[in-house]
Amino acid sequence: MAPIYSRIIATGSALPERVVSNADLEKIVDTSDEWIRTRTGIRQRHIAADGQTTGDLAFLAAQRALEAAGVKAAELDLIVLGTTTPDIIFPSTACLVQARLGANGCAAFDVNAACSGFMYALGIADKFVKSGQSKKVLVIGAETLTRMIDWNERETCVLFGDGAGAVVLEASSEPGIHATCLHADGGYKELLWNPVGVSTGFKDEPNHGVRIRMAGREVFKVAVKTLDALVDETLQAAGMHESDIDWLIPHQANLRIIEATAKRLAMPMERVIVTVDQHANTSSGSVPLALDYAVRSGKVQRGQNLLLEAFGGGFTWASALLRF
Ligand code: ACO
Repeated sequence: MAPIYSRIIATGSALPERVVSNADLEKIVDTSDEWIRTRTGIRQRHIAADGQTTGDLAFLAAQRALEAAGVKAAELDLIVLGTTTPDIIFPSTACLVQARLGANGCAAFDVNAACSGFMYALGIADKFVKSGQSKKVLVIGAETLTRMIDWNERETCVLFGDGAGAVVLEASSEPGIHATCLHADGGYKELLWNPVGVSTGFKDEPNHGVRIRMAGREVFKVAVKTLDALVDETLQAAGMHESDIDWLIPHQANLRIIEATAKRLAMPMERVIVTVDQHANTSSGSVPLALDYAVRSGKVQRGQNLLLEAFGGGFTWASALLRF
């Protein structure tokens, strides 16, 4: 039997209207535009309006992806949504989005893999398609990470933004996703976490203790090393070489981490999609937002090979190598 591939047939994304620049943040914490730009590459971020949720952004991104694909919501047989900031504890944000789209009846679930959430969702969706289980799948990465920010903490508040991206996958006899690699090491949990919740309990602190805690320098070191190994593994899994890759579409956390991965792949920065300057770190939203920007701006063309990767809390790390 001929192999089944999953192909990305369209992309979409959504960002909140409100833009907060580095200069705006200078007014609330002891930081500077110069520090933020030189350490991270970030110039601005979008921040969700009061009452605007992860599901709202996910819904918009999904609508735009479905419209670009010419696929009706009722045709979907699976929705997988990566997020670590769901609207409510349950139902999952995937179920909330499914109902708003009118895709009722298909399987729908969330994946929590922190910043690697979209890459995990894509890897899972790919398996559903390859197994013959699903033919048309909506994969979303969506976050309102700024809801976990302590705006008095300069170490973290400058780094994050809100946003969502989505892709429509279709079963095809043509490639398609060549390889996906998913990994986690929970031994690193305390370097990047938000250690309150339903079962552990919340704290008698502002925002019930819900805030990101991060050992930035340590996360940086492990991220660079891990992503180096991940790109090697992904190339090997796809049976490809560095020179086969047309575009690197990395997780947008820090320009210096992105540059390190590009260097490892011997890729000039002109072949790397960078949106961290505009969006900051939108966690699960980051890779699909960058992909949608790359597609709609005409940079990425059909038939090109794309390497997508992400690294985040857990730690988790994941990649996909695909022919667009
Ligand atoms: N403005 C000004 N100064 C600051 C700020 C700020 N916003 N934040 C920290 N500093 C200071 C520190 O206090 C420190 O001062 P000191 O030297 O007097 O002690 C100095 O700047 C340098 O701090 P470092 O932490 O060493 O700075 P570094 O160069 O490592 O950059 C950063 C920090 C940007 C956080 C970087 O380490 C990083 O990007 N880490 C990775 C983050 C990441 O990738 N997360 C990924 C996933 S996120 C997720 O999964 C949800």
